[in-house]
Amino acid sequence: MNAAAHLQARTLIEVYVHRNTCLISTHHNRKDNSEKNNEHAKKWIREKIGTLDAHKDYIEIWKLSSSYGLNDFMQNFIYALSFPNFVVTDWGAKAVWREDGGKVLALSTSRVEQTGSANALWWYFGPNDERTIKSVENINNLHAHWAKQYPGAFSYNEDYVYVCAFAAITIHRLEVKIGVPDISEKEKIASHLFWRDMAKLFRAENDQPITGYPDSFEGLVKFCEDYESTPRPFFERANLVVSALHGQFVFRFPPPQLHWFGHQLIRAMSLPTTLKTVQIDPPDPMAAEILPKLMGYIFWQMEENSDDPTDAYIEERLQMSSDDKARIRAEHKELDARFPEHFISKYKNDAKLVGCPYHAMLTAADSDFRTGSDQGSLEELERNAGVLPGQQGTCETDRQFMPACPGSYPGTSPSILIAQSLQTPSFYVGIYRSMPTARAPFLFCLHTTEAE
Ligand code: HEM
Repeated sequence: MNAAAHLQARTLIEVYVHRNTCLISTHHNRKDNSEKNNEHAKKWIREKIGTLDAHKDYIEIWKLSSSYGLNDFMQNFIYALSFPNFVVTDWGAKAVWREDGGKVLALSTSRVEQTGSANALWWYFGPNDERTIKSVENINNLHAHWAKQYPGAFSYNEDYVYVCAFAAITIHRLEVKIGVPDISEKEKIASHLFWRDMAKLFRAENDQPITGYPDSFEGLVKFCEDYESTPRPFFERANLVVSALHGQFVFRFPPPQLHWFGHQLIRAMSLPTTLKTVQIDPPDPMAAEILPKLMGYIFWQMEENSDDPTDAYIEERLQMSSDDKARIRAEHKELDARFPEHFISKYKNDAKLVGCPYHAMLTAADSDFRTGSDQGSLEELERNAGVLPGQQGTCETDRQFMPACPGSYPGTSPSILIAQSLQTPSFYVGIYRSMPTARAPFLFCLHTTEAE
């Protein structure tokens, strides 16, 4: 490597490592090596797990292995890696992206917070605690709300089993991927049993209980692999959701000069099957090779150089002063306000977003839905779904950020679309031109299904 390239690579790693260790180590008292030699780090978590019985104490074991050392960066990173796998279906992507980008576009960081804090609460208090039961009930209600808008989308039992199975094996998969020692057999048994109990709290559409949760940790891995290797057609909305999820993480954390690196990192850590299904480019081969190892190195160094944290993430969240909560909410709001414009600026020239006046028309017509009579109840549902009080997800402003479709492509022939909005009694007519590629008809018509 020449000197300039070497310097560039070093700077890049330093900047990224610096940002991450600052962010990751909120709960870690980092020590330099000389200190480490003098003082033995206090590793109480592993010690405590060692005294527990996987079959009896699985809730405690899951809590110990998942609730400490978390912070906003890790929450967001895990969210950006996990959530894309849950929207590979047409119905999943549609319920999330909806007609206008939904929360993943308009309230992108607030959504991370809602999901992250709900997860942290479940992990810490466990499936038998009334706070978890109430929180999951709120999520069930939120799902039921959206099921009314997208009938059928929330009815697939296997989607729920997949989310639970995926959550149960995530730490194992990440550790294997980055090359650090895998979780113990005891933790595998505990993860399986913890999520078996969590799965019982969820309801699919029409209040259906979730069935068919696999009966071992290996069964969970197999279930996930089968789900992920199922061939699925490409859906534009899935691409948009995943682009927004990756984009949100990259927009929030690395500085703009390193956005490319953030994307490579996320892609290098993602499941290749999911990237393929939603047609996101794979990572550069070198990134795929190096970045998981770099993450492994960072985690290993942190593990070696820090004490185990004493406070769980959710304890800190719940105990925060109202001023601190307000400050965090304001930070999220500020990111939420800036992200859609950033996203559109990145994607407006993407063939997947350009060329569809029909799209713009439907987006504009969506205002009836936004101000509709059940908007108030949605706000209430969303307030209940989060941990920071007052957090909610109305999307009053998102429409103005949607890309205007220029409506013409040189060398293509125009088509006419007639569609009925799901939310209003109106019909919309649009003329659009498709790209001269095989994918074209599917690329542009976000709304073809609704148009039927
Ligand atoms: C066990 C399985 C599932 C879990 C643990 C789960 C978890 C969550 C959580 C924590 C939220 C709150 C996020 C927020 O308010 O921003 C949420 C909201 C939501 N979930 Fe799920 N979910 C599951 C299954 C599904 C499925 C199968 C779908 C789609 C078919 C879905 C679509 C949605 C939607 C549309 C929202 C509303 C937030 C938004 O507009 O993006 N979820 N879910």
